[in-house]
Amino acid sequence: MRGLIVAVDGPAAAGKGTLARRLAIALGLPYLDTGLLYRATGRRVLDAGGDPGDAAAAIAAAAALTPVDLQRADLRGPAADRAASAVAAIPAVRAALLDWQRSFARAHGGVLDGRDIGTVVFPEAPVKLFVTASPAARAERRLHEMQGRGEAAGLAEVAEAMRRRDAQDSARAVAPLAPAADAMLLDTTTLDAEAVFAAAMQLIEARLRPDSP
Ligand code: DC
Repeated sequence: MRGLIVAVDGPAAAGKGTLARRLAIALGLPYLDTGLLYRATGRRVLDAGGDPGDAAAAIAAAAALTPVDLQRADLRGPAADRAASAVAAIPAVRAALLDWQRSFARAHGGVLDGRDIGTVVFPEAPVKLFVTASPAARAERRLHEMQGRGEAAGLAEVAEAMRRRDAQDSARAVAPLAPAADAMLLDTTTLDAEAVFAAAMQLIEARLRPDSP
């Protein structure tokens, strides 16, 4: 599988991260959570007391990003979610992070999860998965995740924040969240992590068969 690029795109809390991490182990490929790049950029802006929607501040933060930023412990949670989605709507921020993502997978391939991996970052990737789930299932998963981190929140509030972020990620002019024309769709609403992984592996094996169209 060396050199293979697997794109895993989809909305928040659809199960992309868990799936992409497992696929990377199974296929022996490096894994990159590209959302962390946007999260770390947003965090840098917040640290400096700036507004993540301010293009100049966000561009400077993206340019200053280092691998250590991706290991910060404060990249999850509602403030980081909002900041990431805001910086991600700025075209020059996306351009600055494009090289990072492409060079990550250039040498050995990789599994990358995000919103535009199959459409913009690696449009030529042989394997593209678009992972979705119903808004209700995604809100419940995100709430569960937050409770696991000890954060207090209500389901209605989490669902509304997620709806807003999805709308912003889908409506932006550059690289909006959307399935590539040749992406394989995977709805995880009624599946657990194990079943999602098994279904994805079946889709990938079918796509990589020599007689696949
Ligand atoms: O996958 P995530 O929830 O960690 O992503 C955080 C935000 O970053 C999300 O609201 C949209 C943005 N993002 C993006 O625009 N493109 C990507 N490839 C990955 C994330």
